[in-house]
Amino acid sequence: MKTVTCTAPVNIAVIKYWGKRDEKLILPLNDSISFTLSQDEMCAKTTVSISPKFSEDQFWLNDKKESLENPRIQNCLKEIRRRASKRKFDGKDENVWSWHVHICSKNNFPTAAGLASSAAGYACLVYALGQVYGVEGDLSPVARQGSGSACRSVHGGLVRWHKGEDDDGADSVARPIAPPGHFPDLQVIICVVSAGQKKTGSTEGMRQTVASSSLMQHRIKVSLPSRIESMMKAIEEKDWPTFCDLTIADSNEMHAVCLDTSPPCVYMTDTSHAVASLIHKYNDLKTDQGDINHKVCYTFDAGPNACIFTPGAVAKEVLPLLLQAFPPPPAQTPKEYVKGIASQPAPLSKELKRLADGCAQSGKLQYLIHTKVGDGPRVLVDP
Ligand code: DP6
Repeated sequence: MKTVTCTAPVNIAVIKYWGKRDEKLILPLNDSISFTLSQDEMCAKTTVSISPKFSEDQFWLNDKKESLENPRIQNCLKEIRRRASKRKFDGKDENVWSWHVHICSKNNFPTAAGLASSAAGYACLVYALGQVYGVEGDLSPVARQGSGSACRSVHGGLVRWHKGEDDDGADSVARPIAPPGHFPDLQVIICVVSAGQKKTGSTEGMRQTVASSSLMQHRIKVSLPSRIESMMKAIEEKDWPTFCDLTIADSNEMHAVCLDTSPPCVYMTDTSHAVASLIHKYNDLKTDQGDINHKVCYTFDAGPNACIFTPGAVAKEVLPLLLQAFPPPPAQTPKEYVKGIASQPAPLSKELKRLADGCAQSGKLQYLIHTKVGDGPRVLVDP
């Protein structure tokens, strides 16, 4: 028997994937770019065991036995076994690819709340299967067949998923573009508006958008080609203010095409908009003060939760600003309310207090997750 335990990170797109050109192979209509988040606060964890003695494949998700009939899991398994069967062996375990597998997966964050849980989950599954079956090479096109965004979670730092041109998806792969420390001391604050399941999942939502939105044509043909080019340039030049502007613009455009869908896909709530508005006011203030490197940006996936990217020095100011605008409920201690990196919030200036107070009563957050950007999947040495 061979067993391995791995963890894999969540990734958050700053240029969003929304829409497929091939549903079965999960091939996207556009390139996307993401930041991989630290695994200290959020990750998927998967243990896989293979043995010639197992009589069938089995799967447990968050301690519950699940069916393995899901075609996406099947496609990942099939592809890993196909690659394993082609591997050159040193005479031992040649038939390893034919051994059945037992898979046990866990997430340490809310599933399907727009927190990219399927991305981390499939990246972890494919990475762990690759380890146990001894498969080398680029696993991003395998993870892609589990969930599109999962292909970006096989790398750390900034990652670009190339949509590719080939019909069989061979060139639809994710590649790292910069290490986690590219923008030094970058921090991430996730404002959890709701940890519940979203109404329309991403797969169904993007299918409806492609079928019905005319604004989507504009996004694919006009906005994205130049925005992606500008984003690559901003990353290359470490131009943080431009990175922020482009990230915000792309999130808003994705949610605009969602609203242009029939029936409309509404993911952001009033509280989501209140968070976005506070960030705009903060950025305007910093621009007025000539402090554009203090900018922060937000992005929303297919859910109401805001993901805020902020330089570390700025997080010291943004975190208390959020706490002032969206105070914890009386029953929660600050530690329960802000999970993750412990921080010493700076006292708020009068101006910032005024900004936050202008936002009061505009909604409630369930909690915040304070984290960083980080590396790709890992093998846990000591499971
Ligand atoms: C809004 O990867 O969950 O998070 O490929 O159908 O599984 P499927 O969709 P999924 O879509 C993620 C969409 C998004 C944007 C992004 O991560 O790029």
